[in-house]
Amino acid sequence: MKVYPVNNEKKSGVDDLFYEYKLGAKPFLKWVGGKRQLLEQFEKLYPIELKIKKIKNYYEPFVGGGAVFFDIAQNYEVENAFLYDINDELILTYKVIQKDVQKLIEFLFRYDKQYKKLSEEDRKQFFYEIRQNYNLQRFNIDYNKYSDNWIPRAAQTIFLNKTCFNGLFRFNSKGEFNSPVGKYKNPKILDKQNLLNVSKLLEIATIKKADFSEVKKDIKESSFVYFDPPYRPISKTASFTSYSKFNFQDDEQLKLAGLFYELDQQGHKLMLSNSDPKNTNPEDDFFETIYSAYNITRVDAKRSINSNGSKRNSIKEIVVTNY
Ligand SMILES: C[S@@+](CC[C@H](N)C(=O)[O-])C[C@H]1O[C@@H](n2cnc3c(N)ncnc32)[C@H](O)[C@@H]1O
Repeated sequence: MKVYPVNNEKKSGVDDLFYEYKLGAKPFLKWVGGKRQLLEQFEKLYPIELKIKKIKNYYEPFVGGGAVFFDIAQNYEVENAFLYDINDELILTYKVIQKDVQKLIEFLFRYDKQYKKLSEEDRKQFFYEIRQNYNLQRFNIDYNKYSDNWIPRAAQTIFLNKTCFNGLFRFNSKGEFNSPVGKYKNPKILDKQNLLNVSKLLEIATIKKADFSEVKKDIKESSFVYFDPPYRPISKTASFTSYSKFNFQDDEQLKLAGLFYELDQQGHKLMLSNSDPKNTNPEDDFFETIYSAYNITRVDAKRSINSNGSKRNSIKEIVVTNY
């Protein structure tokens, strides 16, 4: 099924909705570093083997909101997808959509109804009550074992994501969700059709809460891997690497470059993106150095360069490929 970009208008939120999926499944959460706005440029950089249907296995070790997965799984003929992320709440939500989407829809339906009839002030209170409960309840969740209490948890994750400030779905170092309430008149707390579409698409997916290195254990012959690690911060004040309680410093970027090399040696097709350090320091050759054996392309990205999202400049993002 081919999905065409229909909307190039900028909307608010962290994951800029530059690319609308006309049909089918699209990301169900707003996610920092979301790639929807880059898909048109990325499509030109996918390996030819994907386009001529030779690649059947797709891997995304930093899946986040999954913009690239949704694109590839719907527009190319992959048969298996392996999706990983270190964020427990994110992976829990993917798995609930995969296994129990109807029950999840019922929970979200109730949140949506309750929330929409409240005044602005009461909505605020409702949000903070859910947030508090969410942070307390995390000690009662076994993130390693699927159970029925994952379903209301996933509903809360989606509710908070859709109603928090600017879609900034942020956790502090203790793992508490700490984004403030947002000001949306009509947030789409329940997008039933999309959740059903996502659930259907996830039938081909193996979803794991894991460090990116897990891909090494699972990888099958002739695969395509897309890596979208946390960005290296583009300025000292813009620390966009804190998606979770796990830090992603230069030593992790180096470990990832080591994995890239290993998978390249095994003959897989690899693509990796990151922010371009040259946006702020033209002398910074970090990625040119660690990916010197590969091709580096630059694409145009628009994203916030300060924490309140008010300053948006056209900046570059790098894409590394081994083909
Ligand atoms: C740039 S975001 C990915 C965004 C995604 N491409 C999208 O379109 O929404 C990076 C992701 O890496 C995850 N992450 C951070 N450290 C990780 C690690 N060591 N292993 C796996 N995932 C990690 C974060 O939780 C986050 O979801």
